[in-house]
Amino acid sequence: MNKLKITDTTLRDGHQSLIATRLKTEEMIPILEKMDKVGFHALEVWGGATFDSCLRYLDEDPWERLRTIRKHVKNTKLQMLLRGQNILGYRHYADDVLEEFIKRAIENGIDIIRVFDALNDVRNMEKSIRLTKKYGAECQAAISYTKSPVHTLEYYTDLVKQFEKVGADSICIKDMSGILVPYEAYKYVKAIKEVTDLPIELHNHCTGGTGEMSLLKAAEAGIDIVDTAMSPFGSGTSQPPTETIVSVFKDTERDTGLDLDILEDIALYLKDIRDRYLEEGILNPKVLMTEPKTLIYQIPGGMLSNLLSQLKSLNAEDKFEEVLNEVPRVRADLGYPPLVTPMSQMVGAQAVFNVLNKKRYSAVPTEIKKYLKGQYGRAPGKINEEIKNKIIGNEETINVRPAELLEDELPKAKIELGDLWNTMEDVLSYTLFPQSAKEFLERRKFDEYEKAEAII
Ligand code: CO
Repeated sequence: MNKLKITDTTLRDGHQSLIATRLKTEEMIPILEKMDKVGFHALEVWGGATFDSCLRYLDEDPWERLRTIRKHVKNTKLQMLLRGQNILGYRHYADDVLEEFIKRAIENGIDIIRVFDALNDVRNMEKSIRLTKKYGAECQAAISYTKSPVHTLEYYTDLVKQFEKVGADSICIKDMSGILVPYEAYKYVKAIKEVTDLPIELHNHCTGGTGEMSLLKAAEAGIDIVDTAMSPFGSGTSQPPTETIVSVFKDTERDTGLDLDILEDIALYLKDIRDRYLEEGILNPKVLMTEPKTLIYQIPGGMLSNLLSQLKSLNAEDKFEEVLNEVPRVRADLGYPPLVTPMSQMVGAQAVFNVLNKKRYSAVPTEIKKYLKGQYGRAPGKINEEIKNKIIGNEETINVRPAELLEDELPKAKIELGDLWNTMEDVLSYTLFPQSAKEFLERRKFDEYEKAEAII
């Protein structure tokens, strides 16, 4: 078997999972050149929640971050996570936004785009895959892994064949909840290997305590690439720790060939940063604890903590268990959507409503109504017709790819921004996150104005 390749996720999912995506670019810069020397297959550094976090919390331009990382990382491929037609947001965007975004992401330094759709609806991913190829980057299509009566081995191998047909360069098994247990990991990787020659990558989380074990079994089954995060930003709700995984395979047929000394150096630097976030209370030690509830309820760690804090704010903490039991029922009613953004938030909200109102579906969030109308794509399984009728009655439903019905959005965004934008990157930031991007661009304009005044 070939050596096991490693994608390090520290600068994206690592800090997203453990410190709410708060790592600043200035904290990354001093370690980038060293990370570039390790010989990772790729560094996942952009996309997911990092874009939103730059604008909303860090007063940073996410595009500038990408260019800075690219400047310091000259040899290793840079990877990003894209939510398909949802780009980096929570709704479907028109194709003009998607095309411009992918083009600019690649121009600014991205080499690999990992694309997923919350419903595994290939129609919502196809455009992203084709555009990624069109602008010269590598496209990895990701399976949003979940368990349900419709998510069988055959379902997944069939999905992989569809990904291959629309032009994916590699496949990712994206286990965002950390519920792919070791022997299943072995079984799935074996089965997928049988239907495709494309490289396969495992992305998982240690939340339920099985992350490293599942990675090991996946490696035994021949997985090509695995995602890990440097130990200070690994484990818990994050990925298996990089140094640990490199040590595990040392001197075996899957030896990663990575140098543990350089890794130790990088870890020392990151550990200081991690400890500071711990002192500041941004790193909650709870996210580092094993949470087997994710395996029992098959709910992602992030969703568990969100539900708990929602219930706390409503003074209904005692309903936690009841809500956890309601989640799988809502999922079944909705045709078993995987619990990944934005479905995890939607299903969670509905479950809370159902429990607190003591009457199921007496109140329904707008997003759930949209979902029932087909506006998020095709449900993986059958939707409960009785409940659907009760909620949307005779309202019109759609069967086409949702973005098909959206009109171009960029022209309008430019007008709305007036003289606040300088580049198409600014326009894209605004289209994705209107409020926080606008505030960011206003601050930038004010700073420029102040600087000009000072010179005069
Ligand atoms: Co993840």
